[in-house]
Formats: sequence, C-alpha cells, structure tokens
Amino acid sequence: YSSEEQNILDAYEWSNKLFHHVLKHTKDGKDALNYVKNRGFSKDAIEEFQLGYSPYKDQFLSAFLKGKGFELENLAQYGLLNSRDGNSFFDRFQGRVIFPIHNHQGKVVGFGGRSIQDHLEPKYLNSPESKLFHKGKILYNFHRARKYFQKLNQVVLFEGYADVIKAYQAGVHHAVATMGTSLSETHAKILSHYVDEVIICYDGDAPGREASFKTAKIIKNAGMNARVANVPNEMDPDDFFEKHGPEAFQNLIQSAENDVSFSLQYIKKNYNLNIDHDRVQYVEKALDIIATVNQAVERDFYLNDLEEMFKLDRSTLLQEIENRRRIMQ
Ligand code: CTP
Ligand code: MN
Ligand code: MN
Ligand code: MN
Ligand code: MN
Repeated sequence: YSSEEQNILDAYEWSNKLFHHVLKHTKDGKDALNYVKNRGFSKDAIEEFQLGYSPYKDQFLSAFLKGKGFELENLAQYGLLNSRDGNSFFDRFQGRVIFPIHNHQGKVVGFGGRSIQDHLEPKYLNSPESKLFHKGKILYNFHRARKYFQKLNQVVLFEGYADVIKAYQAGVHHAVATMGTSLSETHAKILSHYVDEVIICYDGDAPGREASFKTAKIIKNAGMNARVANVPNEMDPDDFFEKHGPEAFQNLIQSAENDVSFSLQYIKKNYNLNIDHDRVQYVEKALDIIATVNQAVERDFYLNDLEEMFKLDRSTLLQEIENRRRIMQ
C-alpha cells in the first residue's frame, strides 16, 4: 500500500472499532442494537462480523478522526466522510448500522450502512468506489470464508450482507456476497482459483432469478460448476433463515439444483407454451442450453424431458444437439 492508502486503511480501522463500540456499549447505539437483535443477528455474529453503528450526528466520526490527527479531506476522497464544498466535513453513514467490508487480505476498505429508520434513504449506503474498494473485485466475507470454501471446494454466493451473516449462523461458513451487484468475470476468475463449484443463493424475487440465470453463465465460462438454490418467491435467504431456521437453511443450500435444470425452467417464463410458435421457440432455446452440457448421459437426461413434454422425435433432437455442438467446437 502507498502511504496515502495506508493512512486510509488506518482511518477505516479506527472508524470500524469506534462504530462497533458504539453499537455494543453506548446509549447512542441502543436503538441500533435493538434493531440488529430484532432482525435475528446473534451476539456471536455481531462480534464475528464486527457490526457497528454510526450515530445520527454530523460530527461524531469526523471529530473523532480529527482528534486522531487525520486529514479529513483525504478521508472524504475515499468516501469515509462527506464534505460540503470541499472544506467542511461531516459523517457520511450517520443513522446507519455498519457492515464493515474487508478486502481479500482482511483489511477494512469500505462500509455498508443500513438505515434503521424508514425516512432515511437509501436503505443501504456504501462507500464509493476507490483505489482501495472496487465492488467488481471484492466479495463480502471472502477473507473469512476462504479457508472453508477451499476445503469444501465449493462456495455459496449471496446478494447481501444479512444473507451471509445468517448463513454463518446456520453453520454455512463458505459464503460470500456480491453486495447487490452482479458477479463480475473478475470475481468468477478469483473464485475459480479456489473452488470447482458455486452455489448461487440469490433473492427469490424476479431480479434475483434473472441475476441467477446470468451469473450461472459467468460461473460456467470461468470453468466452474454452477448450482442454484431454490429460494421461495419474494423471500431472501435472510428471511428464509428467520422463517425456517438453521437446518432448513442448510437444506436449501444442499438441495440446490444444477444450472441446466434451473435455466430450462427459468426461460419458460418467456414463452406461452400453449402456442405452437412459442413451443418451437422454447425447444430451440432449450436445445441451445442442453448442447452446452459436456456429458452425453446428462444431455440424454434433459432430452428425455423435452421428448416427452413436446412429443418430439428423439433422432431429430439428437441431430439438433449434434449441429449445435459442432458449431461450438
Ligand atoms: N445494496 C446496496 N445498495 C442498495 C441496495 C442494496 O449496496 N441501495 C446491496 C447490499 O449489499 C445489500 C444487497 O445489495 O445487502 C442486497 O440488496 P437487498 O436484497 O435489497 O437488501 P437486503 O440485504 O435484503 O436488505 P435488508 O434485509 O437489510 O432489507
Ligand atoms: Mn468486539
Ligand atoms: Mn433484492
Ligand atoms: Mn435481499
Ligand atoms: Mn433482506
């Protein structure tokens, strides 16, 4: 790290300690602590993930950091503070529960701030992109999860902070999150150095399913196997944990289906299978997907379904697969 970067890392470290202390031990943090507990975050998880709270005050962190001798202007450039016209500085994350974001070496390089009041928008405010914090490169919880996913040769991929933390509470330690954005090719490449399989466990809403479909492709292109957990409609993994508990949560992960089954099911939404024209279109798309499967036995398994579902001739289907695979070579 350059000396400027080291200075920022030190400031993030101090801020993290302060926020964590505020949440656990002060009157300022009382409502936030209640919020966190009501949402089902355990004491152990609050410790492990170093959750914190930034009080609803303009000059809480900024005064503290000034007292430590930091140049507030630098900190504003890295999004730790906000500034008014570049010369007065105030707290960026005020009124928010703090999820510290570590880089893959385990240094705090950003915060995710969760509003605990409805009128305080947006719901999440994060540190902005900087030389130290690139959302397209960093995965939340990577530095803690690494030894687990390396050992299991599998990683579980979530959207949000809360999902990862509830996974931890359910004993699923090999978990990371993309923090709302989609998995980048860089993310996938990094993961491919450690694991052969990624279980996608995104939110069970329409955007979550769409993201699962796209992410599965990125994972496969990076040479890994992808599976998709079946998170029920309009729930996210955090909600699922709260509603069904740790064993069901583990089950949800373990019973994730393979990406081809998921994709074949997912693309059906684009077609009205009562109409001939749409049926043909669907079969074409389904064949595209099945053709990407390298094991003949596995392809056969999906072709069985198509053959039955649409009363198609097996030799025609096989011919179509062969044509597609020849082009792919
Ligand atoms: N996110 C973000 N900024 C937003 C919304 C979301 O950075 N305005 C990121 C956060 O990392 C968040 C993740 O995207 O954890 C998933 O978003 P969402 O599902 O909307 O949030 P949840 O984590 O489910 O939020 P909560 O349970 O706290 O309501
Ligand atoms: Mn602590
Ligand atoms: Mn969502
Ligand atoms: Mn969510
Ligand atoms: Mn949620």
